[in-house]
Amino acid sequence: MEKINIAVDGFSSCGKSTIAKGLAKELGYTYIDSGAMYRAIALFAYRNGWMTDTDINEAELQQHVSEIEISFKANAQGQQVTYLNGENVEKEIRSLEIGNMASRVSTLGFVRRELVRQQQAMGKRKGVVMDGRDIGTVVFPDAELKIFLTASPQVRAQRRFDELQAKGIAVSYEDTLANVRERDERDTTRAESPLRKAEDAIELDNSRITIDEQLQWAIDMFNKITKKNE
Ligand code: DC
Repeated sequence: MEKINIAVDGFSSCGKSTIAKGLAKELGYTYIDSGAMYRAIALFAYRNGWMTDTDINEAELQQHVSEIEISFKANAQGQQVTYLNGENVEKEIRSLEIGNMASRVSTLGFVRRELVRQQQAMGKRKGVVMDGRDIGTVVFPDAELKIFLTASPQVRAQRRFDELQAKGIAVSYEDTLANVRERDERDTTRAESPLRKAEDAIELDNSRITIDEQLQWAIDMFNKITKKNE
């Protein structure tokens, strides 16, 4: 059977990576976490002193953005690990600080253009499940299957809060909810590729369904689409 590309978009903490990874495993496809790429750029800018909590030296970052090469490799446990110019940065990019910086660098047009170029190259041979915010609208507008995930801000904040607690990071539920709302606002209102559902995407609100139910739903969608294309 010919391979297709699958786009999974949605708000932060919606469980995009869970469904995208599960689908990739089930189908034998490559999973690509596009958010990790924005996080790697933020780390690069931060390490070079071009980014602080309040400012970005856009001129320096723009001059050096084409020197940034991001790749993914599986570790011994089969989990995907992010590499920045050959260095494993998986742990560093997952901090809350880098997440917030990633949200800020992702508003810059030249950063988005460079990453979209790298993401499109990764999907050239198909067989990719990529999750993010603009995959169905900008990166793979021709993706055969587009999924748009939603869940209420309260459900997403609770999931994020549980995740952080499990990692031993002390935060309050109220602060987590405020952070979810802040990121939603930034992701949907930015001038460059704001988060929105592609017209041909299928929406799934996963506030009240289990991970297994979501995965089964996604596999059913995949089967329906690939059958139709046969
Ligand atoms: O999904 P995430 O939290 O790892 O993403 C980090 C930031 O990058 C997030 O604030 C939104 C941004 N992002 C984006 O603008 N476009 C993408 N395709 C993926 C992530």
